[in-house]
Amino acid sequence: MSITKLGIVGSGIMGSGIAEVAAKAGVEVLLRSRQQSTADAMLTGLEKSLAKQVERGKLDEQVAKEVSARVSATDDLHALHDCDLVLESVVEDLAVKRELFTRLDDILKPEAILASNTSTLPLVELAMATERPDMVVGIHFFNPAPMMSLVEVIAPLTASEASVAAAKEFASACGKDVVEVKDRAGFVVNALLFPYLNNAVRMLEAGTATRDDIDTAMKGGCNFPMGPLALLDLVGLDTSLSILDALYEEFRDPNYAALPLLRRMVAAGHLGRKSGAGFYDYQKK
Ligand SMILES: NC(=O)c1ccc[n+]([C@@H]2O[C@H](COP(=O)([O-])OP(=O)(O)OC[C@H]3O[C@@H](n4cnc5c(N)ncnc54)[C@H](O)[C@@H]3O)[C@@H](O)[C@H]2O)c1
Repeated sequence: MSITKLGIVGSGIMGSGIAEVAAKAGVEVLLRSRQQSTADAMLTGLEKSLAKQVERGKLDEQVAKEVSARVSATDDLHALHDCDLVLESVVEDLAVKRELFTRLDDILKPEAILASNTSTLPLVELAMATERPDMVVGIHFFNPAPMMSLVEVIAPLTASEASVAAAKEFASACGKDVVEVKDRAGFVVNALLFPYLNNAVRMLEAGTATRDDIDTAMKGGCNFPMGPLALLDLVGLDTSLSILDALYEEFRDPNYAALPLLRRMVAAGHLGRKSGAGFYDYQKK
């Protein structure tokens, strides 16, 4: 099945990035947010991002116009009814996603594929919340979606080969390198990355080194583009905590047990870049 119209549900960091990627690949995109004001703000954000790329000579002006003309926004879930693929990218919470999948299953045409951008949650649980478990897969983009070259396609036990193939074809058409992964918490990347990120928080809490020294050490010593604490801020501390909790729930490995510092920061609303404060301060001076 070829994907010509994509629905994206969720207007956070990932939803907008994926919209840009898909629209650049020639796909018509309909973004759905719970509030029209947020949906409209996403369109404005996309236009700003495209204008910056034109300014820097990275994108042709005419192409930018065509890309933005392919994206529209709505607050109405029913407006997604004729999409070939709907990719959900709302908060990393199984109950919220399950409910959304049940609603989308009622709304979408029977041949539409339903996908989640979840970082860790069991895809089979989302599949079983629908009457089309064979057509539910994971399509996991990375942050920021326009820059990161990888997509993990996750095939739950219930998925048909055709659905998995269509998801892979879509991600490839978006210009991404695709890997297929079994439905296990964290898939490949986050299952390997999060013990490292979590242990950086442990080190900070133990006073082994300062925030800046931990990040400087991993950049200079491993040639990583950013340190672990800056990366946690980029991912979002609430999303990171949900990822660790899902990994711990599945594997009971102490390396996945979230540190109290991370939990307290989330409770305090310090969510990283998106809230203006995390391990670093992002308030505009
Ligand atoms: N942040 C990352 O680095 C990253 C990378 C890859 C995948 N993901 C995954 O993408 C998804 C979204 O993450 P994000 O970083 O964009 O999050 P975010 O916090 O930026 O945005 C979450 C979105 O969910 C919406 N939302 C919250 N509660 C809701 C509810 N009850 N019903 C419907 N919508 C609700 C919010 O309004 C917001 O638009 C998650 O599943 C996350 O695991 C995140």
